Formats: sequence, structure tokens, C-alpha cells
Amino acid sequence: MNYIGVDLGTSSVKLLLMEHTGKILNSVSREYPIYFPKPAWSEQNPEDWYKETILGIKELIKDFDKTSIKGLSFGGQMHGLVILDEKDEVIRPAILWNDARTGKECDYLNNEIGKDKLSKYTANIAFAGFTAPKLLWLRNNEPENFNKIKKIMLPKDYLAYKLTGTFSTDVSDASGTLLFDVKNRTWSKEMLDICGIKLEQMPKIFESYEAIGCLKAELASELGLSSDLVVAAGAGDNAAAAIGTGTIGEGKCNISIGTSGTVFISSKSFKVDPNNALHSFDHADGAYHLMGCMLSAASCNMWWMDNVLNTKEYSKEQEDIDDSKLAKNHVYFLPYLMGERSPHNDPKARACFIGMTMDTTRADMTQAVLEGVAFGLRDSLEIARKEGLVIPETKLCGGGAKSELWCKILANVLNIRVAKLESEEGPSMGACILAMIACKEYESLEEAVSKIVKLSKTIEPDEDIAKAYELRYKEFKELYPALKDSFNSIGA
Ligand code: XUL
Repeated sequence: MNYIGVDLGTSSVKLLLMEHTGKILNSVSREYPIYFPKPAWSEQNPEDWYKETILGIKELIKDFDKTSIKGLSFGGQMHGLVILDEKDEVIRPAILWNDARTGKECDYLNNEIGKDKLSKYTANIAFAGFTAPKLLWLRNNEPENFNKIKKIMLPKDYLAYKLTGTFSTDVSDASGTLLFDVKNRTWSKEMLDICGIKLEQMPKIFESYEAIGCLKAELASELGLSSDLVVAAGAGDNAAAAIGTGTIGEGKCNISIGTSGTVFISSKSFKVDPNNALHSFDHADGAYHLMGCMLSAASCNMWWMDNVLNTKEYSKEQEDIDDSKLAKNHVYFLPYLMGERSPHNDPKARACFIGMTMDTTRADMTQAVLEGVAFGLRDSLEIARKEGLVIPETKLCGGGAKSELWCKILANVLNIRVAKLESEEGPSMGACILAMIACKEYESLEEAVSKIVKLSKTIEPDEDIAKAYELRYKEFKELYPALKDSFNSIGA
């Protein structure tokens, strides 16, 4: 039997058609625009997501036996605020996970309501990209839109709603709203009250691997698919990626270098970082996870290549950076192109290069970008280490995993083994696996993951390079505190 995994990303929707054995039959990717209507704002049109997803499904399955497709599920960009009115129409463009307009609302939540209360109600504190501060922003700035809200949903849940008619979300994605009691896997009444939201405006909660319904009959006939095709709730893209890389159970780690960069640590029991620097969320495997999130990861390299160097030849730019150059670069890049979430929680942080001299080359600066992202990921890993978590190895997925050099830099900066997978498509793989569980193709996620997820190669850190990077990391760590006040005035 075959399954469709839909990864609703920030730059594109990536679709995967997969056999129950894990064999990838086809993949399709379709882009849509992202809008930055004001500095620090980041928006997309949910209708664009849906249109491109439907076109993508058609393209994905056109040469395959449609009767063999049994289930579909999602991984989706998290935290985005999608609001529908009483006619089920989208009220305004979705406000995305990397939007930083909610500084005032986060201050109100963290300082006036108080971090202790937020953490007690939700296991998390307010970060600019989370959904609850966006609702407060809407109430303060667009009351006419706020008053029209009939349904609140997350990005992938909009697709699920259009495909099935079921108003639903899953526990992993709900965790990133700051409206959700992560420990008890239910909406937080206290947080809904604080944001002026009623329970009936919120979607019904499912575990990620549960079926929410079947394809709407008219859509099934348009796509040539069965109207018995099961749609599973799916997960936030990081939890879906963790399923797709086999990061389930206790103490496993997955790092994603996508538009965002995340360090995801699975846990069988509920845990909260005492400073809330790491998010404490539900996992798609039925348990929990801790996660640090950088707002710009592969997007830093994309910005540097596409916008500044004006090239699409990413690997050519990395050709000259051999082992002899690693940890010897005296140029640093702070990767805060969209402000930063973990660990600084500072929407006004900004990116910069530091340390250039007359002999600095283009390759040094490219290397600094890759290293800056690796140092940023190390910041999150350090928090986990301080809490006593031992992480000897990580899986790696996302577009950045395609670069051998970036994998090597990461292994040495983190000083841990980095395992690459046969497919970097973490979230869409995970989505296929979640659909398989909903269709009872496998008895458990453990069984599915053990049969489907395949490692391709492991990169070990080199003792000398890792040691030299220790020093570089110490220097990197001093830069943000030294520049924080300047960022504050630049961003004001
Ligand atoms: C996670 C986060 C990002 C988005 C990217 O908290 O904000 O990883 O999910 O799609």
C-alpha cells in the first residue's frame, strides 16, 4: 500500500509518495510566496498553501495506481495563526512562526501575566512567533478581524480542514500555540481566557497518528482517489521530522537545518527546562520532547548565496573549504537575520559578520555563515547538556544536511556523531509514517520506524578540530551579549 506525506514548509510544500516498505516512489515540491509587508512581519496566504498542495498531489500521483493510496498525513510549519470567519473564509493572511511583530504582547505575557504562570499553564513562556501573542496582537491592532474569528487553526490544520472538513489539530503542533496544556494534552482554559478566546473557536485535539477523517467525496473524485482514503492528524514539522528520522523514545536527538534550525530531543516523560529556554512540547510518538529553535538556519546560507553572492552554485562556493580550514576562520557570523528565538528570545537581534581583515576571502565568509548556524545550534544543545541530558549522537535532516561540509562542521562544533539518513525529507517521511499508523499498516511507531528509517552515513568529530572549535565557540558566545544593546537600538 502507498501513502502521501505533505510537508507544508515556509518556502514550499514538499510531497512524498511512499510504499509501506519505506520505498520512495515519487516526490514533488511546489513553491508559494512569502510576504514581509513590514520589517519583522512574515505572512503567507493559506489559499496558496491549499492550491499548491492540490496541484502537488495531482502531480505526485499521476503515474501511479491511485487505488493503492491508502492514507495521507502532514508535517507543517508550526505556530502560524490561521483564522477563519463564519463562512469558513480566511480573514487575513497567516502570521508565520518567524514573524516578530508581537514584542509588546510577549512582554505583557512574560512580565505582567508572568513567566511562572505561563510555564505552569503551558510548560512554556511567550516567544514572538508563538500563536497566543499573535492573537493578542490581533485583538490590539485589528479588532475588526479579531471579532470575526470563528475558527483558529495552525497551517497544516487548514489543509486538513479543506481536505476532510474536520476542524482538528494534533498535540505536537498545539504545543506551540501557548494556549495548550502540554503536560495534560488539552487546551489551557487559563490561557484561552487571557487571550479572550472561547474553547469552541479552537480545533479538536488528536494524537498525531490518529485518523481525523477521510477525503471529502468531491475532492476524492477530483483527485481520482478513494473517498475512504484516511487522513491522519499529522504533526508540527519538527515532530514529524523526528518521526521521519526515527527520533522517538528516550533521549534521542534530531537536528534540522531547514529555513529554521532545530535541536529536538525526545523524552518518554514530561520535562520543563527551568528557564524555559528550550520549548517543552508533546511529541508525535505519544510522549514529549524538548526543543531549541533558531529562526534562520539554512535560510542564512540561502540569503548569503542568493541575495549577496548572487549565485545558485552552493556547493561550488564550499569547494575550497577543506579540513585544513576548519576552526581556523577568524570571521564570525551571527545568524540572527530574523531576530532569534532560542536561546536569546530577542526579536531585535540582528545578523552580522565580525572579524574581517584585508585577507578575508569570500570562502571565509561562506564558512563563517555555516559555522555561525552550527554555533547557534550548539547554544541549544548546551542548555540541554546543562540539564544533565547526555547526547552522544544526533540525526540530521533538512536542506542543510545535503552539504557534506556543513555536516562536518556541525559534528565538530557540537562534538558529537552526526548520522545522515538516506532521505533528508524528515517531515514528509514522518507524515507518511503517521498515515501508516492511522491505517494500521504497522502496529506501532517503533515497528514502522525500525523498518522504514535508514541511515546512510555517520560523521564522527575529529578530536583536534573539535578542540579548536571549542575555543571558537567560546568567542562566538561572547558576541551576542556584547552587541545586544546595539541590536536593541538598531531594531527600535
Ligand atoms: C519551531 C519553529 C520552526 C517552524 C518551521 O518552533 O518555529 O521550526 O516550525 O517550519
